[in-house]
Amino acid sequence: MKIAIIGGTGDQGLGLALRFVKAGEDIIIGSRDAKKAENAVDMVKEMLEDGEVSNIHGSTNVDAAKEGDIILLTVPLQAQIVTLRSIKEYIGDKIVIDATVPLDGCLGGRPTRYVDVWQGSAAERTAELLENTDAKVVSAFNNISAASLLNIKDDVDCDCLVSSDDEKARKEVMALAEKIPNVRSLDCGPLENARIVEKITPLLINLNIRNKIKLAGLRITGL
Ligand SMILES: NC(=O)c1ccc[n+]([C@@H]2O[C@H](COP(=O)([O-])OP(=O)(O)OC[C@H]3O[C@@H](n4cnc5c(N)ncnc54)[C@H](OP(=O)(O)O)[C@@H]3O)[C@@H](O)[C@H]2O)c1
Repeated sequence: MKIAIIGGTGDQGLGLALRFVKAGEDIIIGSRDAKKAENAVDMVKEMLEDGEVSNIHGSTNVDAAKEGDIILLTVPLQAQIVTLRSIKEYIGDKIVIDATVPLDGCLGGRPTRYVDVWQGSAAERTAELLENTDAKVVSAFNNISAASLLNIKDDVDCDCLVSSDDEKARKEVMALAEKIPNVRSLDCGPLENARIVEKITPLLINLNIRNKIKLAGLRITGL
């Protein structure tokens, strides 16, 4: 399965690419600019050992969406709709993983504040845009920080909260997330629960700032 990371040149996309390539997954880094995607691929290669980097290449978001079997969206809120529109015709019945967190920082405000979106969550906003397709929208990776993903010398210390209205797609993404060592996937049920999950991220950013750290994560106990 090829995973197309749309907007994969930012920290979150790069971090996920890094971890998935290391786990042996086939990755395409997408960008609006093919050259920028290739530069991002070089950055991932530099962070990994020689034997770990055969399965990654870069292309435009459109080509990545055409080629990928799974679409992983890692763009900021203000780019979410325009980016999805640019690749919508190539999505078909693929799984679309949405990692978007609606942060006020995207609107020139504070990165520590959540902004409400009309659809209830960023993931449901993606689902609304794709409602006349057969895409299976899954919300995941919202609470795993890019700093943790890029800190390749250590495992990621965070649960991955996964929600989707499509149970098979949810399970598939849960299995994918657990390819990142030490990440535990939690089945969070229907996509509407992304409303809760996305809101945790600004709290984690607040905790990072207050504690002068970068790696705040989330673990649910008692399961
Ligand atoms: N960073 C984190 O720790 C973290 C953690 C959890 C969730 N997330 C979520 O993951 C997503 C990506 O985060 P990030 O920090 O990687 O974001 P980012 O660096 O700001 O942006 C990622 C990529 O999106 C594309 N992009 C940016 N602005 C755009 C615009 N106006 N129009 C079209 N494309 C645009 C750019 O790719 P090209 O220029 O190459 O096209 C950029 O490299 C966000 O929704 C964020 O809330 C982030």
